[in-house]
Amino acid sequence: MIYPIVAYGDPVLRRQAEEIGSDYPDLKQLVADMFETMEHAGGVGLAAPQIGLSIKLIVVDATPFASEDPAAGGFRKALLNPEIYAQEGEEWAFNEGCLSFPGLHEDVYRPSVVHIRYMDETGLAHDEVYDGYVARVLQHECDHLNGKTFVDHLSPLRKALLRRKLDCIAKGAVSADYKMKFVGKPKHR
Ligand code: NI
Repeated sequence: MIYPIVAYGDPVLRRQAEEIGSDYPDLKQLVADMFETMEHAGGVGLAAPQIGLSIKLIVVDATPFASEDPAAGGFRKALLNPEIYAQEGEEWAFNEGCLSFPGLHEDVYRPSVVHIRYMDETGLAHDEVYDGYVARVLQHECDHLNGKTFVDHLSPLRKALLRRKLDCIAKGAVSADYKMKFVGKPKHR
């Protein structure tokens, strides 16, 4: 099932998401639906708050980056309760987008390496290190679980310049080639 994607402006994107267990109701179906929703929208990552669920669950498919970054080729995972507990390496800029912000792409600086703990769908705990595009997507998606989005990484000036565009997104005055849910009024932060 394809879920509508929650647009910027919805308070669910500002909420701290709750931890879940691998016994979460219908987890397998939910993960499958999140992958389907993400792929339908052409995304490389999706966090549960983006479908209106304030729980710590993300899906990532970095395989579209495989030609530039071979390590990304094998990364297609659902992560429960992911926690980036350390970041290192030089910050680099990447022109990021987000399914909750159709039509918006901005250069975002983030550290190149992440250390992440998470649980997989079977309840197995993992502690891993990633760099490149996988580290980039993981940082973007984990932000969503902490009520943060990629525009929060922009300078106050840049954000001010984007205000009108952001208001349009919140109001639904944008076009996206996937189903979205708008709250109808902007939320300034
Ligand atoms: Ni996003």
